Amino acid sequence: MEYNNVLVEIEDKVALVTINRPKQLNALNAETISELSNCFETLEQNKSVRAILLTGSGEKSFVAGADIKEFASFGKEQGAELSRRGHNQLFNKVENLTKPVIALINGFALGGGLELAMSCHYRFASENAKLGLPEVGLGVIPGYGGTQRLPQLVGKGRAMEMIFTAKMVSAKEACEMGLVNDVVAPDDLLELGKKSAKAITRNSGNAIAEAIKAVNAGYEFQNHGLEKEIEHFGNCFGTPEFKEGTGAFLEKRKPNFD
Ligand code: HXC
Repeated sequence: MEYNNVLVEIEDKVALVTINRPKQLNALNAETISELSNCFETLEQNKSVRAILLTGSGEKSFVAGADIKEFASFGKEQGAELSRRGHNQLFNKVENLTKPVIALINGFALGGGLELAMSCHYRFASENAKLGLPEVGLGVIPGYGGTQRLPQLVGKGRAMEMIFTAKMVSAKEACEMGLVNDVVAPDDLLELGKKSAKAITRNSGNAIAEAIKAVNAGYEFQNHGLEKEIEHFGNCFGTPEFKEGTGAFLEKRKPNFD
């Protein structure tokens, strides 16, 4: 598997997938999403792979979000389409993959980055990780499942606090609220992931695939929540506040929403 922005290594039935755009803090542009989509499909078909680890390259970031430069000029329809395509191509696919996917959060997991980690079946973080959904500071809302998956993981109140304040939480805080399962020193993160994946490979792959389907069935989104997210995400696009929020990021200044 050869990609521009994704590295894949397979060893002892465990695949390590690394998102590799370190200069952009591994931000998810359209090409990276499409490559990840292809990569997960290929790994699902590969009988020699029983568990998948997903991480970001470099020491600073897992994924710093969707690529803001790519969508800053989008209007309402394009915004909604961006969200819908992401759900279909990647986020729902990872959640429903029949092999366990474990996120190894090695730094910033922001916006679409945290949403990708939340689509994985569970998460470990390094001590330097920072997690958050900063979208409202850009004039948008989480659009890759964050409005649905964060409340499932941490409860509605904590999720709303994180979404409304756009604050980043530390790995320790994320662990305390159940957003990640364990926190270790940066140098130990891969080892922890491999150990957990190894335990998975000793068990029945067929039974694990059925377990994923059963657990996920109990967490289907209520009241068309994901469709609503797409609609409300799209509504934010092209508004004066969206232009101010995304413009401020691109101009490297603080937004003014007065
Ligand atoms: C595009 C990004 C990016 C992003 C970082 N970069 N995050 N480019 N999209 N999400 C780029 C920067 O522009 C910069 O490029 C380089 O990566 C390094 O980033 P810096 O900002 O210089 O690093 P630092 O000062 O250490 O700050 C790190 C940071 C900051 C706090 C993570 O980069 C940041 O706030 N990033 C945006 C986080 C965010 O808002 N994410 C949510 C996106 S919206 P140059 O070329 O200047 O070197 C989203 C929506 C999902 O995810 C739903 C979609 C449907």
